[in-house]
Amino acid sequence: MGAVGLWRSDTGMSDSNDKKIDVDLSAAFLPVVERAAIACAQTMGQGDRHGSDQVAVEAMRKILDRVPINGRVVIGEGERDEAPMLFIGEQVGMAHAATGNTGGPFPEVDIAVDPLEGTNLCATGSPNAIAVLAASERGGLLHAPDLYMEKLVVGPSSRHAVSLDAPVTDNLRAIAECLNRRVEDLVVIVLDRSRHGQLIAEIREAGARIRLIGDGDLSAGISAAVRGSGVHAVIGTGGAPEGVLVAAAMRCLNGEILARLVVDTPEKEERCRMMGITDMKRVYRAAELASGKHIVFAATGVTDGTLMRGVRFFGDGTRTSSLVMQTMPHRIQFIDTIHLRPGSDVKVRF
Ligand code: FBP
Repeated sequence: MGAVGLWRSDTGMSDSNDKKIDVDLSAAFLPVVERAAIACAQTMGQGDRHGSDQVAVEAMRKILDRVPINGRVVIGEGERDEAPMLFIGEQVGMAHAATGNTGGPFPEVDIAVDPLEGTNLCATGSPNAIAVLAASERGGLLHAPDLYMEKLVVGPSSRHAVSLDAPVTDNLRAIAECLNRRVEDLVVIVLDRSRHGQLIAEIREAGARIRLIGDGDLSAGISAAVRGSGVHAVIGTGGAPEGVLVAAAMRCLNGEILARLVVDTPEKEERCRMMGITDMKRVYRAAELASGKHIVFAATGVTDGTLMRGVRFFGDGTRTSSLVMQTMPHRIQFIDTIHLRPGSDVKVRF
């Protein structure tokens, strides 16, 4: 559509009933995650995880209205009554900010956000806190309830060789074989939680190396799909919303997530049903959690991490490190941005 240069239907003609993502939105989403990361990075190490989260949410919410979309939050900060902004169902984007909710000529996009993934990591200045957003055409991201999810995340080489129900030892052997190395040479990331006692014992028994992390199985999952990161798998139970975001990243990186919601009470089952989930034991793959044809994924490092550096502040500006990916056209970008204050006379260093 001429107005924003982003919209066309599959026929190449603008069509208000079929506003599909035709051209990449990734450039438009980059500032969204950069702003959220910069805002919360300023609070790094203050020991206030809620405060860090709040500034990231506010920054992301504000800039989202400058993105030329008719957006709807499907994974966000919670239900409307518990989250003042970026709540599930909230409508965001230029279509709402600039056109008085008419929708305008903008593409209909579903959005999953985690303005600060790893609130504790930011509050303590620990590695791998990131600001994240994923998007797709309407219906392309699972509306996952905020429950736990069993997850197994691997890279492209091992994606057909693992099963969520196989013994851990079998999965590790299969991953090692696909990567042409010994099980002893694998690094598996596991959230350091008491619920993972048995899992950790089994991985140790199999002989693989383990990196226990305090938080952040989303950035860990992305690393597992990037060759050279030194991470070969992420196993264990973490948040379901983070699982959908990992799935969006896997769609772009050709990795895989196998996942199953942990539905262990009637109340949780009811919540699932209300969100349209009927099979409580279903094992999802990346292509089911993030089923959209057009997937966009953007993340900016808040603290230094495996794939992205954290936000750096200096006299005249700020430097950010981001990962921006999309399926159509299929493209992965590692973006290093120096944001200069107006009129600054900074000398840029490589
Ligand atoms: P926050 O961003 O809300 O701090 O969550 C971080 C995280 O560690 C996720 O990466 C992970 O999926 C989830 O929390 C694990 O939940 P729990 O801390 O309850 O085990």
